[in-house]
Amino acid sequence: MTFLITGADGQLGRALVDAFSAHGTVIACSRAELDITNTAQAAAVVSRARPSVVVNCAAFNDVDGAEALQERAFDVNALGVLTLARAARDIGATLVHYSTDFVFDGTAGRPYSEADPPSPRSVYAASKLVGEWMAADAGRWFVLRVASLFGVAHTPGTSRMGSIDRIIVALEQGQPAKVFRDRVVSPSYVVDVAAATLSLLGGSAPSGTYHVVNTGHCTWYELAQEIANIIGGLEHLVPVDVASLALKAARPQFGALDNSRLASVADPLPTWQDAIRRYLAFRQRPATI
Ligand SMILES: NC(=O)c1ccc[n+]([C@@H]2O[C@H](COP(=O)([O-])OP(=O)(O)OC[C@H]3O[C@@H](n4cnc5c(N)ncnc54)[C@H](OP(=O)(O)O)[C@@H]3O)[C@@H](O)[C@H]2O)c1
Repeated sequence: MTFLITGADGQLGRALVDAFSAHGTVIACSRAELDITNTAQAAAVVSRARPSVVVNCAAFNDVDGAEALQERAFDVNALGVLTLARAARDIGATLVHYSTDFVFDGTAGRPYSEADPPSPRSVYAASKLVGEWMAADAGRWFVLRVASLFGVAHTPGTSRMGSIDRIIVALEQGQPAKVFRDRVVSPSYVVDVAAATLSLLGGSAPSGTYHVVNTGHCTWYELAQEIANIIGGLEHLVPVDVASLALKAARPQFGALDNSRLASVADPLPTWQDAIRRYLAFRQRPATI
């Protein structure tokens, strides 16, 4: 297989480039090389490269910032996906596109399945939902909803660090880590997302939407406790309620996702506790020269 990966410098993009390289040819495109909002450039790059799979990791992910930057959010998260879907369709390639648990409003009180109707509550979430619809313009397509991604350590202190890395770094440095005790998630380890994506592509799964999260769910506080039980620093966790923070965009309170549809067509994803343990072991591996 030849994979063309957009947003290849992002957290998931980098993990997929690493994982997919053992399974075929990878054409990794940073934003400078392929801007998905530049319709002509994106179509030309895809048509020249003629990959068998276009994998879209490009996204506008500033959930709070999107409230004031609606046009930008929809340009990247919705129209950019349409451009890639059409480019993939024109060359007979499969499109893989990643979406989010935020398409749900978080009021169900039980894990959401793919059959549950979305009800986005923020600009970011709405733009991602429209992007899901746009992905279906490709001939063969997969919309893979992930959540609370973790697995590529960014430089501490940079804005690109994910929430789980922020917790880990705070605990490692003995700093207080504020964590929600009333928001429930099903986290996704990028290594497991990569494996699940390859498994879907290699099988005969029908086009559609799949929840690609580690099995189970937890509050952010429970997640942080699991980390602290392994690396220490339990005393630095500060449980907070979502309502106590003045966030510009609403978050789903109970955003757990049910991944059993994926498990019916591919290997089931390990539990989130297993994924956290593997990631912490990976972070602590000795540096190679
Ligand atoms: N992170 C999470 O917790 C989370 C949760 C749920 C769903 N997701 C979804 O998972 C996917 C991967 O997320 P991630 O965490 O890997 O994101 P990320 O680390 O923010 O990476 C996104 C990448 O997209 C690039 N990009 C932005 N606009 C672009 C454009 N117009 N054309 C091409 N590239 C562009 C960014 O480049 P620059 O660096 O130049 O901006 C960045 O390299 C996204 O679809 C996201 O919505 C993520």
